[in-house]
Amino acid sequence: MFNGAISSGRQSSLMSEYASLMGDAVLRSRARVAEHAARLEAEFASRIKSEFIANMSHELRTPLNSIIGFSKLIAEQPPGSMDAEETVEYAKLIKDAAGHLLAVINDILDISKIQSGKFQLNNREMDVDEVLRPCVAGLKLMASDANVELTCVIDPNLPELSADGVKLRQVFTNLVTNAIKFTPQGGSVKVTAKSDNDAATIISIRDTGVGMTEDEIRVAITPFGQVDAGHNRWREGTGLGLPIAEALVKLHGGELTIESVKGEGTTVFVRLPANVAIKPPADPVVANATQSASTAPSHYAV
Ligand SMILES: Nc1ncnc2c1ncn2[C@@H]1O[C@H](COP(=O)(O)OP(=O)(O)O)[C@@H](O)[C@H]1O
Ligand SMILES: [Mg+2]
Repeated sequence: MFNGAISSGRQSSLMSEYASLMGDAVLRSRARVAEHAARLEAEFASRIKSEFIANMSHELRTPLNSIIGFSKLIAEQPPGSMDAEETVEYAKLIKDAAGHLLAVINDILDISKIQSGKFQLNNREMDVDEVLRPCVAGLKLMASDANVELTCVIDPNLPELSADGVKLRQVFTNLVTNAIKFTPQGGSVKVTAKSDNDAATIISIRDTGVGMTEDEIRVAITPFGQVDAGHNRWREGTGLGLPIAEALVKLHGGELTIESVKGEGTTVFVRLPANVAIKPPADPVVANATQSASTAPSHYAV
């Protein structure tokens, strides 16, 4: 009985020693996992940052070089030697480059305002048709230059929402521009707008372009992130269009979702909640956010 008491005392001290060892091991392993995750996150941020600096200097330098180059050309001509047509052509190139530069700078200002929580929407009652239709019409030329078919189907009974029309147009311009930009020749981009059972407006931008994996979507949605970054990237841009679009949709109380299949195409869904105080849709249409692709699509919801 005495021996039994000793052995049970030993057992319990062995058990508590074992438990404490196990506890230490679990803590050490958790610390290692956390450290690894932090290192990966830091490497990801640092890669995005260096790619951003490289891309940004390209994005700023290219239009600046055009502005300096063409204005120098005009300034160095002997007086009266340039014909009017030539002067107008150079002036247009300078204007285009300056416009591009302004767009890049505006994107940088927008993202920093959004990130600091200082971005203000200027909401009014409107329906999406009002901004979506002119936005798509304005991108027809870009699509035809890229040999990409651009179509737009807008439900005539869209509900009214309380939204900032200028900012919504910026969202759709970014998304449709991306769809055209990342769709090779002969492909198509389809823009649709419907309302769902909750009277929310669902806009989808579906392309038959290069598509993205889940990891690539993660890069794409990160400010300054570009899937095909580095020196051999095949399309221009700052990597800010998608994060700005996502942030603006969120500011409207909405949600931006990306579905993509690498090599097959991408669909971006924007869901804007109904303004219940305003008129409901006459004939709500169920918009089912699914994709009929053979491979399971990468999915991203904010
Ligand atoms: N529709 C799309 N199809 C394939 N890739 C896309 C699409 N939209 C965005 N991406 C990827 O996401 C990246 C980030 O997009 P964005 O933020 O608009 O920046 P940018 O257009 O300036 O590169 C793009 O560089 C591209 O790699
Ligand atoms: Mg873009």
